[in-house]
Amino acid sequence: MTDTALASIFCPATLGWPLPDCEPDGPTADQQRAVLGALRHTRIDWAVMGRHLAFEADCYLRRRLFLNRSWEILMLCWLPGQKTAIHDHGASWGSTLVMMGDLTERTYRAPEGQPLEFKTEGVLTTGQVTVESRETIHEVSNQGVVPAVSLHLYSPPLRFLHSYDESTGAKRYVEPAESRFCTR
Ligand SMILES: [Fe+2]
Repeated sequence: MTDTALASIFCPATLGWPLPDCEPDGPTADQQRAVLGALRHTRIDWAVMGRHLAFEADCYLRRRLFLNRSWEILMLCWLPGQKTAIHDHGASWGSTLVMMGDLTERTYRAPEGQPLEFKTEGVLTTGQVTVESRETIHEVSNQGVVPAVSLHLYSPPLRFLHSYDESTGAKRYVEPAESRFCTR
């Protein structure tokens, strides 16, 4: 099934709260707070979400559930050991809900022309919500022993992002179509 078809069959109202209509450059600070607050109290309807659940052995599965002018909703399905490249989120603001399992997030700072600087590492457990801001540079992985599933809301929709080389700081422009990038 294509992303377009999936986008037409997932209704964001399933989340139980309305997604705000945002300006082209993304949500205001008030809208961000509202989305984060609502996401924290979202009860996942697995009868709906379960239809889109799938895993692949070679890379985490990135599935677009919804796309409109303001928002893109992705579901990511992670087997143990799967992880992203180090990346930013282009011009998009994002929020993530861990729906199942645990995810480990390592964050970085990117000084101009220098290797990345490690900032933090933390484990996001089921039900936890985190922000992927325009400043966030991170790597996300499933270091648990069971699969994990996460829900990601981006506004404006992810049109581009960058992956980073940790040792040199070099960054590479990535189109969304190829943004299912991973290092295992
Ligand atoms: Fe991310």
